[in-house]
Amino acid sequence: MRAIINGERFVLGTCYYPEHWEQSLWEEDLDRMLRTGIEVIRIAEFAWNLIEPREGEYTYEFFDRFLELAHKKGMKVIFCTPTATPPAWLTENYPEVLNADQDGNLYRHGARRHYNYNSPVYQKFCRTIVEKSASHYGSSPAVIGWQIDNEVNCELNEFYSESDSAAFRQFLMEKYGDIENLNRAWGTIFWNQTYNEWEEIYVPRKTAHYTNNPHHMLDYYRFVSDSARKFVRMQADIIRKYCKNDDFITTNGIFGNLDNHQMTRESLDFMTYDSYPNFAYCLDDYEEKNFLKDRKWSRNLAETRSLSPVFGIMEQQSGANGWTTRMEAPTPRPGQITLWTMQSIAHGADFISYFRWRTCIFGTEMYWHGILDYSGRDNRRLKEIQEISGKLSSMAEIAGARYAAKVGVLKDYDNIWDAQHDHWHQRVDSRSHKSLFTALQMTHTPFDYVYLDEQTTLEELQKYEVLFYPHGVILTDERMGLLESYVSAGGKLVMGCRTGYKDIFGRCVMDHLPGKAAALTGTDIPEYSFVAPDDGKVMADWDGTQIEAAVFNDLLAPTGENAEVLARYTSSYYAGTPALIRNRYGKGEAYYFGGAFALDTAKAFLEKLGAAEPYGSRLVLPETCELAVREKDGWQYLFALNYVSQAVKAELKEDMCELFSKEQMCGEIEMSPYEVKIFKCKRQ
Ligand code: GAL
Repeated sequence: MRAIINGERFVLGTCYYPEHWEQSLWEEDLDRMLRTGIEVIRIAEFAWNLIEPREGEYTYEFFDRFLELAHKKGMKVIFCTPTATPPAWLTENYPEVLNADQDGNLYRHGARRHYNYNSPVYQKFCRTIVEKSASHYGSSPAVIGWQIDNEVNCELNEFYSESDSAAFRQFLMEKYGDIENLNRAWGTIFWNQTYNEWEEIYVPRKTAHYTNNPHHMLDYYRFVSDSARKFVRMQADIIRKYCKNDDFITTNGIFGNLDNHQMTRESLDFMTYDSYPNFAYCLDDYEEKNFLKDRKWSRNLAETRSLSPVFGIMEQQSGANGWTTRMEAPTPRPGQITLWTMQSIAHGADFISYFRWRTCIFGTEMYWHGILDYSGRDNRRLKEIQEISGKLSSMAEIAGARYAAKVGVLKDYDNIWDAQHDHWHQRVDSRSHKSLFTALQMTHTPFDYVYLDEQTTLEELQKYEVLFYPHGVILTDERMGLLESYVSAGGKLVMGCRTGYKDIFGRCVMDHLPGKAAALTGTDIPEYSFVAPDDGKVMADWDGTQIEAAVFNDLLAPTGENAEVLARYTSSYYAGTPALIRNRYGKGEAYYFGGAFALDTAKAFLEKLGAAEPYGSRLVLPETCELAVREKDGWQYLFALNYVSQAVKAELKEDMCELFSKEQMCGEIEMSPYEVKIFKCKRQ
């Protein structure tokens, strides 16, 4: 059986760097971890030099010594490939392995992730070191799993080296075959960008105002993703040849310009996420007005869950953030480590590994605190983690449970990447996703992100009563076919403005908008506009509820006999024009809304479509608390998480057992600052 994420119990781990400490500390460290309830350590992700100190000289003497001790102590180990930090001898002798900025200046040795995925030289060195490590430790009894690289696409996720341009050309040749196809797809006739030869094409270079061709950019993001995935796949394939059957392969994420879904499917057993909610309290990130603060990390956890329904946290916050160059942050307050640990678990994590055991006493991250401070003495944070370990035993039955959601928010990589470069697209997209997430949080409505790609099935979509696809700007026939089947079988689908105006290359379509979504939504869009700044907020009236149609407005007209106008604009020159259309389609309903979703608008949709507060008849929480639900064997586990430094009141509408206290509770209850309670009840 797999050592972690096996549906049996929760497991705690920590990130350990034996190379940062005198060997005399190892044994005591391992003993103390075990006494704290930590059973797993992750090691070696930045330790290339200890394995290959000079080109071609391999030695496992250091890690053999350490692993022997770990095994003797009964400590389980996740061993990493060290490819995130190529050594100085390598970058010095083979500068072509380095990544470059858009001007072609190389990122030099001294930080991390300074390499590029496409250098044949780097690929060869990586293949060899992964092969050596996997064959050396593949059957090691201490090793339970493997982490590939570290945080793929973190720090830098754009690549501009010469190897990247060469690989990009190859990628494009395979995709388009003939350069004329590429010219058409990229609309290069515009501004005289036509290419005669593949050699004339580069990864996007500096242009006036960085206004690069948008179709070129979209393919570039696809290419970066492809390069990263292949790099991970290359390593995974090697490790699988040597590792034991129950050992797992993972990587820690999750980062941009990367199809994490395809990467997980083709290379990993499950995804792990690095969760640092304390970023919300760093001086440089602090958003006074955003009341969600550390609760925003639930959005990333929901993203991780879309990759692996039950996942791990490879790095969970256990101390203050801090690099010497940025991120000045307070230490977690009493209760916050527990809160953030439970936040991860509430969203589907069964393995939690704290970053890091001891705080490093040198280097860029010497202010990034781990569990222990510099001296290593016992402290409050260590005690809190020991208590967490006790709590995990009392909730072991939840391990393996699936997050339960009836609302889904649809996404896809084509639109994510298109919105990265295209500001018009980005503006509606970021506004709606932020509002939807906040509204779902405030109304205690558990939701999932659902990614649309070739693998998505109707069955997956049918788990949800309501799906939001806020701005499916790029639509394909396959995705529309799936959405039509979902609605026609009884689902409710909500689409927002700007749906369907682009094709897969990111070019505008000449169809009547919303293009491929016109039939499903019973909607026609004769005219559209950005919200004029001097119009202020454009509002619409939906049966007496005033909703904002933010950022951009499609002026709608119903088509066909099943389409009905639910709301009309009440401001600007288009007051009176339809702003929301509902089309009955088969057994279901498709809604087309002419704006981006403001917070109150998102709430209104959740309420009017009957999706808000699905557990309101059991548990009433204040807005400052999150509700997350995991479900297993006919039981539901309702996690109530209080994110604020004040005690708050909640109300149980029925008798439920609280798992930590084992008490039956009903009526008004109090939640202390940062407290988490878990209520067990029969599935409704
Ligand atoms: C993560 C990374 C760790 C450490 C941590 C704190 O991004 O994987 O190695 O750097 O952040 O900065």
